[in-house]
Amino acid sequence: MSANLEHSLSRPPTAGRTARQGAISIDDVVKVYDPDGAAVMAVDHCTLDIPAGEICMIVGPSGCGKTTLLNAIAGFHSISSGTIRMDGEVLCGPGKPQAEPGSDRIVVFQNGALFPWKTNLENVAFGPKMQGKLSHKEIYAKARSMMADAGLNGTENNYPGEVSSGLRRRVEIVRALMNDPKVLLFDEPYRALDSLTKSVMHEALLEIYYKNKVTIFFITHDLEEAIFLGHRLVIMTSRPCRPKKILDVDIPHPRDYSVLTSPRFRELMEETSAIVHEEAKKSFAAGEKEG
Ligand SMILES: Nc1ncnc2c1ncn2[C@@H]1O[C@H](COP(=O)(O)OP(=O)(O)O)[C@@H](O)[C@H]1O
Ligand SMILES: [Mg+2]
Repeated sequence: MSANLEHSLSRPPTAGRTARQGAISIDDVVKVYDPDGAAVMAVDHCTLDIPAGEICMIVGPSGCGKTTLLNAIAGFHSISSGTIRMDGEVLCGPGKPQAEPGSDRIVVFQNGALFPWKTNLENVAFGPKMQGKLSHKEIYAKARSMMADAGLNGTENNYPGEVSSGLRRRVEIVRALMNDPKVLLFDEPYRALDSLTKSVMHEALLEIYYKNKVTIFFITHDLEEAIFLGHRLVIMTSRPCRPKKILDVDIPHPRDYSVLTSPRFRELMEETSAIVHEEAKKSFAAGEKEG
């Protein structure tokens, strides 16, 4: 293990964040798929500690095993060995290969998961209404307040199709946050967008994050996106994945788009792009397809 990786794995949570919950600890996790007896190892002895409230960006080539890891945390898939914990409690591990999905860890689908026939407010209120833990009044007060915090004032009675895609994606994040999750999981949510639209999405995500310091596990293969958003960058090897390099992004938050032209941003891009490129080439040579 390199000194850099060792340092990053053992370091305490970065100061300045207030989240007390939502620390994810991935310990020596292996995942082998075995469709029709043809074993495919997707995750190879992966160890990674994500402090509560961190924006942790997972970067790696297509097919390396990123989604597999996210699904294991979310409880959508089992792991073959190792342990995943949240705040010290085992989500999955020996004797319990699959985590139970829960509202404490939510996958934010950023593209079309809203009900088009419900208003934005009704979409946001939907989860807690189903859970039935809060009163009608409490749910709508919370929904309105969270929407206002996320810059969605005035869009409550619109349908998702009536607002811009940027606002729609804010609604999707607020809808996830209504369940008081400790961890939000994003799987390449902005991959199909052009860079200008992406920049609007990034600012929206950060703005919402600054008010709700949940842990964010965010998969991307866009290095610029990863450095712009993340407290930390985890560059994965080609399949089967495990961290190849872990890097602190030492650019202070709150960030805005001026960061992209800063010398430190460019340095970090230079420091990491060769490593990402090298893994992508290996992956390409192995004929990986996107998972
Ligand atoms: N359900 C599955 N059954 C068999 N193989 C799978 C399954 N899901 C993913 N894989 C394989 O596991 C590897 C990693 O996939 P995935 O985690 O989706 O990669 P990524 O998200 O990094 O693109 C790929 O080779 C993919 O084909
Ligand atoms: Mg994937």
